[in-house]
Amino acid sequence: MLKTPRKLIIAIDGFSSSGKSTIAKDVAKNLHFKYLDTGAMYRAITYKILKHNIDLQDMQSIQNLLDKTSIDFKLVKGENHIFLDDVDIEDKIRELEVANNVSEVSTIQIVREFLVKLQQEIGKSGNIVMDGRDIGTVVFPNADVKFFVSASLKTRAKRRFEELKAKSNDKNLKIEEVEANLVKRDKIDSERKHSPLKVAEDAILIDTENMTKQEQLNFVLEKINEKIK
Ligand code: DC
Repeated sequence: MLKTPRKLIIAIDGFSSSGKSTIAKDVAKNLHFKYLDTGAMYRAITYKILKHNIDLQDMQSIQNLLDKTSIDFKLVKGENHIFLDDVDIEDKIRELEVANNVSEVSTIQIVREFLVKLQQEIGKSGNIVMDGRDIGTVVFPNADVKFFVSASLKTRAKRRFEELKAKSNDKNLKIEEVEANLVKRDKIDSERKHSPLKVAEDAILIDTENMTKQEQLNFVLEKINEKIK
């Protein structure tokens, strides 16, 4: 285990299905740090908005919904699950309907403000690995070590497709559909007005295309070691 002189915040940002969650989880486990999946938080709000049939232009209703929303993470059989208003919705947030709407919801400023505040609250005690899109740029611009993860569109689509296939009962799921969803999300995530997906100036780049999981983990741990020396 790494001997850390202070409480560290590790930011891992990147594109959808770039492999950042896997790296972030592995790093957290290795360092005995907490892990925060901020994408799951945007998915949880999207799930709730869809469930209540709220129009994405209706800011008053969205604000009312946020005012009555609690988000927590708890360990379920050793896995980190997200709880929305005390209900485990880990499976629900990975469904395609949520995936198809989450980027749109993530452009809404009041949603971002609500979640960024919560993420800062959870992260401030340190020794945490956070994965998302804007951790190193907006949530914790002073994070101790920042990474930006990427991989080709084809590889990302293949990974997400396998993941969805393993989890869902949808026999009609097509890889083309998953790829189209990624293209759409990349575009919205990168072009949105409020905290768009961009590489922090001091982020370390990782292209996971031709790296095994072990190589990715070793690379990240080595960089963290170098940085905190
Ligand atoms: O990492 P993910 O695919 O689960 O993220 C789902 C969506 O949430 C993604 O399309 C963009 C948004 N998101 C964001 O805007 N900011 C974050 N810190 C994390 C996710």
